[in-house]
Order: sequence, then structure tokens, then C-alpha cells
Amino acid sequence: MNTIIVGLQWGDEGKGKIIDILSSYSDVVVRFQGGNNAGHTVVAKDKEFIFHLIPSGILHPKNICVIGNGVVIDPEVLIGEIKELKAKGLKLESRLKVSNISHVIFPYHRILDRLRERKRAHRIGTTGRGIGPCYADKISRCGIRMVDLLNREVFREKLQDNLREKNEVFKKVYGHPGFSFKEIYPKYLSYGRQLAKYICDTSQLLERASNQKKSLLFEGAQGAFLDIDFGTYPYVTSSSTTSGGACVGGGIAPIKIDKIVGVVKAYTTRVGEGPFPTEFELNFAEFMRYKGNEFGATTGRPRRCGWFDGFMVRHSASINGVTEIAVMKLDVLSGLKKILICTGYKYRNSRLKEFPHDYEVINKLKPIYEELPGWNQSISKIRSYGKLPLNTKNYLKRLEEFLCAPISIISVGSQRKQIIPIR
Ligand code: GDP
Ligand code: IMO
Ligand code: MG
Repeated sequence: MNTIIVGLQWGDEGKGKIIDILSSYSDVVVRFQGGNNAGHTVVAKDKEFIFHLIPSGILHPKNICVIGNGVVIDPEVLIGEIKELKAKGLKLESRLKVSNISHVIFPYHRILDRLRERKRAHRIGTTGRGIGPCYADKISRCGIRMVDLLNREVFREKLQDNLREKNEVFKKVYGHPGFSFKEIYPKYLSYGRQLAKYICDTSQLLERASNQKKSLLFEGAQGAFLDIDFGTYPYVTSSSTTSGGACVGGGIAPIKIDKIVGVVKAYTTRVGEGPFPTEFELNFAEFMRYKGNEFGATTGRPRRCGWFDGFMVRHSASINGVTEIAVMKLDVLSGLKKILICTGYKYRNSRLKEFPHDYEVINKLKPIYEELPGWNQSISKIRSYGKLPLNTKNYLKRLEEFLCAPISIISVGSQRKQIIPIR
């Protein structure tokens, strides 16, 4: 059984927790896009792990974990993450695999990410990790890949060529002194040497695993509305975060996918700039931010918070072709008198039929809400659907009905055991 897991909102839905849980039923876990802009949290035996590049299945000792060709890798961050996990006693040597054709993030990508943010009229609010510029080089065909770090001559030529052009742009456009070949070249050669034992052709590895009927789990980063095509462009990330991205970025044929799990938070959050139709007003946002501990796992930035946007999620569930939905952080809604679900958008007095991509419309639309009664009791100790308060069940039923997809798992706390499987 091969499964893709994707976020259906703006990221941070709780994908890490679900991936960790489903990893115990899988043999290979594959990250397929994004980079260390992601922060996936797994709480295991009261210890919190935050993964930025290494797949969240790594805590299960029998799993092979793959960083696929669609991921952009900051080698320094990857080496740091490997060291940290080794220090905690995890054995990674034969279990971690890094695609030889994944692209490498260099210091000039990180700096350009920040300089461009300062120069634009409308900042995106990126994580500043060099993700966008690295993907831009990949598409411009001047990127440097992991395999290049293993060949001194090829790497020398590519880096020299890149720096010749980039240093001119840095100086002329940004007034930045540029980057020294002498500093970068030996450092990145050394990263290549340290990572060599993990680097291989991962799509071949997945092909073999799939032929042996192993179970593959594809771990999405970010969420559908940060997708480079389908998201709230330009306030998006630079990769395909939707399920189709798993095939391209993992190196697996679409025909081999059996299940697509869409992960949602029971409300909505967003980090960074961009439209957010159901965003709470300031005081309530702050109240919910603390209630849900909504601070970025990568940058620590406060997350913006709002009501569950059903109209948006129905759209992303459809683009992703989800076969089931996981609802996370339901416990955070306990204690609210009423809970709102956005079921549509109104623009100039008419109800929109589709999710809008015209910027003027997105900025001026008004969400249409349905109000449901809340529940008072804490639900974080409940482990079976039948024991949930009636109003909680009604909230879930309404979500399921509106999203046209079955809810298969509910999460009521950050711990592994705080989960209610439904089917
Ligand atoms: P991801 O990027 O989608 O993996 O999500 P993050 O790890 O960035 O953010 C999710 C946060 O919510 C993490 O701190 C998790 O430990 C926490 N979390 C996950 N599921 C639940 C839940 O059901 N209830 C609560 N209260 N916290 C949860
Ligand atoms: P996970 O995998 C939430 C957001 C940034 C910014 C935009 C572009 O933990 O869900 P980038 O650095 O990617 O160019 O920034 O995307 N962003 C995320 N928001 N969760 C994430 O990852 C994110 N990764 C990027 O805040 O708005
Ligand atoms: Mg996150």
C-alpha cells in the first residue's frame, strides 16, 4: 500500500504527527519537495523532535527514509540534523538515503532570499532559508546537485560559472560584495564527503522497494495553498506541495499510489504574508495562538489564526484527490461557545462558485459562515469516536459532509496516543 500525505491548508496542519503514526505501517518514508523551510513535529515518549529535512518516519528503526529528488538540501542543515539524531542514539547509516539529483542550497541562495524580500514592494514573509532562489536555479538549469558535490572537477566548474554571474548581480543590483569561491568550494566538497554514504539513486531504490511489495509513505511539506501553482500566489513556496508533486519529487509513477491522506487542522493557521479570508480579529487570534501553541516550528514566528475554511479545503481536497482526511488539533477548539466554519465566499453580493485567484477578489471577498455550538469538556483523553461530546461529533460530521471526503483519523493532542481512528 503506497500512501501520500499532504497538508490541505497553509502548512503546519500536524503532518509530522500523522506521518510518524503511519510510519509504523510503512517500510519506506519519502520527503518529496520543499527543504528546511519545513518544520515537522513528532512527540514520542514525551520527547519532542522537530524535523526539517529528515523524514518524520526516522524514529521507527525498521524504516528506510528517503530525501527525494524534489527536495532542496542545505547540506549544513542536513549534517546538523543527522548529528543531532545520532546523539540521541538513532542509527542512520543504512536507513537514510539522499537523492543524487536533489539540488543543493548555497549561501548565495540564502542571502538572495533575504535581499529580495527587502527589495520587494510586498514581502512574502519567506523563511529566509534560500528555498525560492535554489528552486529558481534548478528551473534556470544552473543548479548544483548532490552528485556534483562528489566530483571535484564538475563541482569546480559549475560553482565558478555560477559565482561569475551571481557576484555581478549581487554587486550591481543589491550592493552586496558577493561570494568567494575559495570559501565555498572546500566547505561544500567536505559536505559532499560527509554525505557521500547517504547519496544514491533514490527513484531506483523506490522502484525496487515497490516491486518487492514494500509499503511506501510520501511525506508532503507545507500545504496546498502554499503550492507554487494552486496556492495564493505569489504568497506561496516554490515547490509543488500537492499530491502530484509526490510522483515528480519522489520519482514514482502515479499508478503506484493507492491512498492520499489530506491533513487539516480543525481551524486554520498561516505563517508569513498573504491573504487569509477567515483570519480572527486581533484579540481572539492571540487567545487561540496561545491555546493552540501556534508558533512556527522553523522560525518561531507567531502563526496567524482563523476559523476552518471549508470552501478552501474542499478545493484543495479535490486538487489533491484525497481519499481520506485527518483532522488535527481538535482539542484546541474545546471550551469555545460557538465554532464557525466558512462554507463559501461572497464578492460584490454574489456567492463565488470557485476558489478565486484574482487578487482583487481575494482581498475584498467576505467569508460566509455557518455557526455550530461548541463543547465545554476536554477531549484530549478520549480515544474512541463514540465517547466524543455530541457537539464535537456534529462538528466532524459537518466537516465530512461539506468536504465530500471521509475523516479517517482525529487527533486530540500532540502525543502519539492522543489519536482517534475512525475507520
Ligand atoms: P507540520 O508542519 O504539519 O508537521 O506541523 P507542525 O509540527 O509545524 O505543527 C503542528 C504542531 O501541533 C506541533 O507542535 C505538534 O506537536 C502539535 N500537534 C499535532 N497534533 C496535535 C493535536 O491534535 N493537538 C494539539 N494540541 N497539538 C497537536
Ligand atoms: P511545514 O512543512 C508553514 C511559508 C513561509 C512563507 C512562504 C514562502 O512545516 O508545514 P519559503 O521560505 O518557503 O520561500 O516561504 O511559505 N512556509 C510555511 N508555512 N509551514 C511550512 O512548512 C512552511 N514552509 C514555508 O512562511 O509564507
Ligand atoms: Mg510545520
